[in-house]
Amino acid sequence: MQTILELNNIHKAFGEKRIHQGINFSLHKGESLGLLGGSGTGKSVLLRTIIGLERADSGDVLYHNKVISKIKSEVELAKIRTQISYSFQSGALFDSLNVFDNIAYPLFEHTKLNFKEIQHKVADVLKLIDLEGIESLMPSDLSGGMQKRVGMARAMVLDPEIILYDEPTAGLDPANIENVIDLMLKLKKMGQSSILVTHDIPSAIRFCDRILILKDGKIYFNGTVPEFTESSDPNILKFSLPQGKEATHAS
Ligand SMILES: Nc1ncnc2c1ncn2[C@@H]1O[C@H](COP(=O)(O)OP(=O)(O)OP(=O)(O)O)[C@@H](O)[C@H]1O
Ligand SMILES: [Mg+2]
Repeated sequence: MQTILELNNIHKAFGEKRIHQGINFSLHKGESLGLLGGSGTGKSVLLRTIIGLERADSGDVLYHNKVISKIKSEVELAKIRTQISYSFQSGALFDSLNVFDNIAYPLFEHTKLNFKEIQHKVADVLKLIDLEGIESLMPSDLSGGMQKRVGMARAMVLDPEIILYDEPTAGLDPANIENVIDLMLKLKKMGQSSILVTHDIPSAIRFCDRILILKDGKIYFNGTVPEFTESSDPNILKFSLPQGKEATHAS
């Protein structure tokens, strides 16, 4: 198995508040990792660290064996972000732009495609997310589930090698959760690698190959889905047991 992303001994604090205290794991080509952990344990900060929106105090992020966590040049970072794409936790879309402009934005920014080619590309991804022909709608015209999918369309329009999904199913009803996970599975079948941060355990079990649990600044558990669901460790059961939302938010 080919390792494409590696986190080596990541430490991060905000002032006195220690968030990451030696995070280690790797992501293999084609693999989907589920990153679980209580609220405020530093899951989003970790995803942001991977793409250089946040700086670790020490430790390295390696992409294809190259240290990317020391890159300072915005141009180079932008290039990395076309290969490792972050699908944001909160409202991913520009409210004042229609669906076409939202999805086309990275294409105008990072490619030399002409307008016609961009139109084709946007139409292609909309087809992939089963939302054909909605280019001219505004984000406010869309349901929450549709907005999430359009946000994901923007995250995948440059064909990144890795997508970092930050709570893609949060706040969605069961039908839309299913749509979003179906879409992620479709991309996974096409060879996409990903890290899914979520409190939605059934979706993590459905989508992921491995589960990681972040606890007290470290990766407390790193195992396959069966190892996760069959564990008798109370710290893991807290997440894997089909309980209410409170249980999955405990840290
Ligand atoms: N820029 C920042 N400055 C100071 N503290 C921050 C900053 N960003 C995040 N934090 C703190 O770091 C901690 C981890 O935040 P993070 O957003 O990664 O949590 P999370 O695990 O994603 O939580 P949730 O599941 O609620 O999304 C929190 O206590 C947060 O308040
Ligand atoms: Mg978060």
